[in-house]
Amino acid sequence: MCPHILLVVLLVLAGCAGSNDATLEADGGTPLRIDLPPPETTGGFGLADALSNRRSVRDFTDQSLEPAELSQLLWATQGVTSEGGKRTAPSAGATYPLELYLVTDSGLHRYDPDQHGLELLAEGDFRAELAAAALDQESVATAAATFAIAAVYARTQERYGDRAERYVKLEAGHAAQNLLLQAVALDLGAVPIGAFRDSEVAQLLQLPSDHEPLYLIAVGRPATGAG
Ligand SMILES: Cc1cc2nc3c(=O)[nH]c(=O)nc-3n(C[C@H](O)[C@H](O)[C@H](O)COP(=O)(O)O)c2cc1C
Repeated sequence: MCPHILLVVLLVLAGCAGSNDATLEADGGTPLRIDLPPPETTGGFGLADALSNRRSVRDFTDQSLEPAELSQLLWATQGVTSEGGKRTAPSAGATYPLELYLVTDSGLHRYDPDQHGLELLAEGDFRAELAAAALDQESVATAAATFAIAAVYARTQERYGDRAERYVKLEAGHAAQNLLLQAVALDLGAVPIGAFRDSEVAQLLQLPSDHEPLYLIAVGRPATGAG
């Protein structure tokens, strides 16, 4: 079975196992939507353990991530945690200027925090191209998934004017740290990546013109001895 079909099937099956309302919709022009299994929102690994064990990991096995792992990582980064739509990471004035994209061996996706689902933007394995845009960093080529945080400054500028650029970048740091700590808690390895060519990453991620890529976080299963 093709890897992308396998991912879709796995995500749907995992969603079915975790909830009854998993759906997979495709209608003409709208992106294919993939619901994720629900995240664990309580318990888990201790925070101090995650902080003590976090280290940048750049060497990964070739194993994919499970749908439940992707779900947990996405939720930790930008998941909704209150009825009013507030999220795991703080946001200046709750303006939520960040958009989260995911590049796996099966495709390019955009995370929808409100639905806790993924939109499939393009099928295929774009990891090598993303690595090329990230100055040929091997960790990006071999990571099971690279999470890309993009900023839409206008959302925060409307309220905070010139102060917004600072706020948005601080917010990307909050979101990235959530993701890094969640990766540790799932026994995964991750490395934050700041070295990349913005325009190439923006093009590869199909970012709208008002989105700017700020940060990549490559995640995978650590190769033995990686750290
Ligand atoms: C803003 C930022 C950008 C970074 N960019 C890269 C990068 O492009 N490639 C990389 O391998 N590591 C990158 N890192 C990871 C650092 O090299 C790493 O955090 C540092 O060596 C400390 O090691 P530790 O993360 O294991 O504590 C980046 C870290 C930060 C905070």
